[in-house]
Amino acid sequence: MLEDDPKSQHITWHHHHVTRADRERLLGHRGATVWLTGLSGSGKSTIADALAARLHDMGVLTAILDGDNVRHGLNRDLGFSPEDRKENIRRIAEVAKLFSSFGVVNILAFISPYREDRDFARSIRGEDDFLEVYVKVPLEVAEERDPKGLYAKARSGEIPSFTGISAPYEEPLHPELVLDTDVLSPEEGAERILVALAEKNIIDYRP
Ligand code: ADX
Repeated sequence: MLEDDPKSQHITWHHHHVTRADRERLLGHRGATVWLTGLSGSGKSTIADALAARLHDMGVLTAILDGDNVRHGLNRDLGFSPEDRKENIRRIAEVAKLFSSFGVVNILAFISPYREDRDFARSIRGEDDFLEVYVKVPLEVAEERDPKGLYAKARSGEIPSFTGISAPYEEPLHPELVLDTDVLSPEEGAERILVALAEKNIIDYRP
C-alpha cells in the first residue's frame, strides 16, 4: 500500500514557509500520535479523554480522534468489512500524521484490529513521534462491561463481524506501552502515557 502511487498524475509537493519546527516552537512541545488499540469496551476512549485532560491542563495542544465519532463524519461511508476497516485506518493514519505535523499531540482511539494496518500508520511517519498503546483487557471483561450493549447483539447475531466475537483482533507484538485496564484505572493509564511521552521528549513532564 505504501508503495502505491497516487491515482492523480502531474501533482507537485509544495513546501511551505512555516515549518513543523516553527509550530512546535510556538507551542512549546512536539507533535505526536498516541495510537490506542484494543477491543471495543477495553477503555480506549476513556483513557483518551483522561489523557487529553491531563495534557490540556499542562498547556499541551491535543486532539482526540475516536472511531465512533469519525465514523459519523469523515468515514461515514465505511462499514466493518476487513477492507473498510483497512480504509478507516489508512485515512485516520494520514489525519494523525497531519495533526502531528501541526505540532498537536493527537490521541487516537480505534479498535484497529489488524497489525498490518497499525504498522502502516507507523511506517508513514517518524518512529519517534508515534506511540502504539495496547489497551489490553480479556475478552470476557470487555464483554461483561459491554457499555454499549454491542457484545450482546454480536452474540445474538444481530451485529455481524464483531471484533473479538466474529471478527479478529490481532494483538500488537511490540507496542510502546501495554495498559491492562482490568487492573489499571484510566487515570493510571493516562499517567503512564504521559511518562512515555516525556521519555520520547515530546512533552516536558516530571511526575
Ligand atoms: S475499526 O475496527 O475500524 O478500527 P473503529 O474503532 O473505527 O473500528 O469503530 C469501532 C466502534 O464501532 C466500536 O467501539 C463499536 O462501538 C462500533 N461497532 C459497530 N459495529 C462494530 C463491529 N462489527 N465491530 C467492532 N465495532 C463495531
